Amino acid sequence: MVTEMKYKIALVPGDGIGPEITGAAVEALKAVADRFGCEFEFNTYLAGGCALDEYGVPLPQETIDGCLASDSVLLGAVGGPKWDDVPNNMRPEKALLGLRKELGLYTNLRPASIQPALAEACVLRPDIAAKGFDLMIVRELTGGIYFGERGRNEAGDAAYDTEAYSVMEIERVARRAFETARKRKSHVTSVDKANVLETSRLWRETVHRLGASEYPDVRLDDMYVDNAAMQIIRDPSFFDVLVTSNMFGDILSDEASQVTGSIGLLASASLGDSSRGLYEPIHGSAPDIAGKDIANPIAAILSAAMMLRYSFDLAKEADAIEKAVANVLADGLRTADIKAPGQEDWIKGSEMKAAILEKLRKN
Ligand code: IPM
Ligand code: MN
Repeated sequence: MVTEMKYKIALVPGDGIGPEITGAAVEALKAVADRFGCEFEFNTYLAGGCALDEYGVPLPQETIDGCLASDSVLLGAVGGPKWDDVPNNMRPEKALLGLRKELGLYTNLRPASIQPALAEACVLRPDIAAKGFDLMIVRELTGGIYFGERGRNEAGDAAYDTEAYSVMEIERVARRAFETARKRKSHVTSVDKANVLETSRLWRETVHRLGASEYPDVRLDDMYVDNAAMQIIRDPSFFDVLVTSNMFGDILSDEASQVTGSIGLLASASLGDSSRGLYEPIHGSAPDIAGKDIANPIAAILSAAMMLRYSFDLAKEADAIEKAVANVLADGLRTADIKAPGQEDWIKGSEMKAAILEKLRKN
């Protein structure tokens, strides 16, 4: 059978460990291409601190255009202490926020689960960890307080940021959450602060109206964000899909990822209305370990798998990557970030990558 599958991928390695881990993900994608007969074309663009150094802005137009002309975007991480003192509108983080907005990526999927082989890394009490968990945070990504009006008074001694949401913005991310839940355990928990915030009351009303009219088969409940933060530690097995605003999702997803004990393994997808998505590890640019071959490439490699699954509909190719990762972990291979306390025989990032590639080629 002759298949013609060619996908154009924009690579945005960014700063710190970004280039090394996206490099590993590219090799994994090439191994997939060899094995399954699909074709990937890679084009690299700068964003973040490196773009600031090179072009004088964190998000050059060339990068936006390159991403828009691609089928999907694979990003490493942006930021670092080198750019801590640049003006606010030049911060490397602006590149990430700008890309999300420019590409219309209003939904962020952040899965967090206990990998069976890594149960001992989980920071929860053993009886809670033993129950296991597998949750998906669906975070609104282009609205809310991140993009609302902000400012200071003339004297500079008072400031404000605005949380604003429209029904349209809530509906489109909630729809994604319901659809995601249907492919999982059909349970959505909508997280808000409706006991205080008007935007949260609109959020709750809208999610329920949509749920009742279009997704009556999906179980829907609500939780205040403070309680959700507590339940993620107390009983994460309660959750399947959580859907929440930009800022609440930012906070809860860091919490959930850390609870797994292996933030170096977690991938994320940012999606909009088209099939073009932006895929990135949850961890940051970790400038302190950049260039030392310590960084765990797994989160970036799993981000590439998410790209295959969500943007290209290449499920068996994505499965192959995920299986290769699960297998190296089951073999006991550990990078520094996921080693057991006192474990001495941990391996370097490049060795982890090589082990995954080998599984990927053989399986
Ligand atoms: C994330 C990051 C970003 C965010 C920062 C770097 C702007 O924390 O992707 O979660 O807050 O969205
Ligand atoms: Mn964050």
